[in-house]
Amino acid sequence: MPVMGVDLGTGGVRAVVLDPDSGELIASATASIESHHPHPGWSQQAPQDWWRAACEAISKVITDGPMDGRDIQAVGLSGQMHGCTLIDAADQPLRPAILWNDQRTQPQCEVLLNHRSEQDWRRVQGKPPMTGLTLPSLLWVRENEPDVFANISGLLLPKDWIRLQLTGDRATDMGDASGTLLLDLERRRWDNALLEQLQLNPDVLPRLHEGPDITGEVTQAAAAQTRLRACTPVVAGGGDQQAGGIGCGICLPGRASLNLGTSGVVFAASDTCPQSPPRGLHAFCHSVPDQWHVMGVVLSAGGALRWWSDVTGCNYDELVAEAQGVESGAQGVMFKPYLTGERTPHENPALTGAFHGLRLSHERPHMTRAVFEGVAFALREALELVEDGTPLPSLRCTGGATQSPFWLQLIADTFQRQVTTINVHDGSALGAAVLASVAGQKAPALQQACERLIQDTEHVPPRHDDLTERFDRWRSLPA
Ligand code: XUL
Repeated sequence: MPVMGVDLGTGGVRAVVLDPDSGELIASATASIESHHPHPGWSQQAPQDWWRAACEAISKVITDGPMDGRDIQAVGLSGQMHGCTLIDAADQPLRPAILWNDQRTQPQCEVLLNHRSEQDWRRVQGKPPMTGLTLPSLLWVRENEPDVFANISGLLLPKDWIRLQLTGDRATDMGDASGTLLLDLERRRWDNALLEQLQLNPDVLPRLHEGPDITGEVTQAAAAQTRLRACTPVVAGGGDQQAGGIGCGICLPGRASLNLGTSGVVFAASDTCPQSPPRGLHAFCHSVPDQWHVMGVVLSAGGALRWWSDVTGCNYDELVAEAQGVESGAQGVMFKPYLTGERTPHENPALTGAFHGLRLSHERPHMTRAVFEGVAFALREALELVEDGTPLPSLRCTGGATQSPFWLQLIADTFQRQVTTINVHDGSALGAAVLASVAGQKAPALQQACERLIQDTEHVPPRHDDLTERFDRWRSLPA
């Protein structure tokens, strides 16, 4: 019986319907959302707009697909992480949500580092205070909008606002909760000592669930707005990264993926809570019950290629052809892709991109090749942190890179590791649907569903072109 996954991305909502028996993606639909940037570095969205887009995508997928809303057995939610969504006692938004890519909270991050050492943040929360995470945004509201702060009755993550509209519940999953900086990762519960220290009211936090738990049922009112059946169960789901991991089949320790979109995310699952991940590597609870994951994020991966495409006026295929025409190493030209700062390994939003080693003899194709190689090197840096000395035999690769044999081969060569493509492409929305397909069940059911539904399609082994020496040179260049 079909299940639905709904992913609240930053650009829009995507709803997919999956047949969990055959693995067939029956239908999908999207609806877009606008971001607002009222000051440089600010990034906000209206929760009302999220619900409008969710209703649009859900009713469209039901209207356009071959099934009826009554056929959907369960719904799973996934979404952009970290967004600070504040509601009052009547469940109404108090202000626009402050998003994951908002940069206003550096002063609050510094204050948080006075409360606990960086080491302690990494040990308990899996990451240090960083702009865009929920807790610094909440402190910003306390300092700058005391009237709003005084009226807070609930703090939600973005996809959990959709849940509230669907089922009336204030609930979240462990993965999204671990992006707030308020969760004790190892114990999988809110960090009450921290809340007390910061004089924050624990009652405003949503109920915690594991990813496949049923958190509530679609209300009559939501059924009328979405065409879903009233009483359809809704599962906790995951943040987009955890759901994306599940959508790639990364549900067992030792499995890892590379998701190459605008950013490049190296993701690996673990059955123990990562202890004090090193600088640049971030730990979260997984949406697989009682699992965790680490993640390294290269902020401008596909984004650097898009930038270079805009600068040169060449489309992606033309850039690939240009890069292929230049021999490996780009005659010494190297590129650092820090066009929007960098998370892994530098954790520095102020870093900038750069070409190095330019000479009069170089032409644009050398620079094009250097952009591809620079992104691949940045991803290898993330991979090395994720592996932490225990090599992962192979990585499942999703996102734009899977469209280009050249790009995949370059990544396999740079990683000196086999990369594999898979039979599904809908990442987080699909992961949310897979979670819905095991509604109310435990980790083994989820792992079996992943093994059955998500399979390797092509293996790309590394060639003998060992790029390690060049990678070391690239790494030693100033960031
Ligand atoms: C994860 C992160 C992004 C957002 C938006 O840490 O910041 O993946 O979830 O997609």
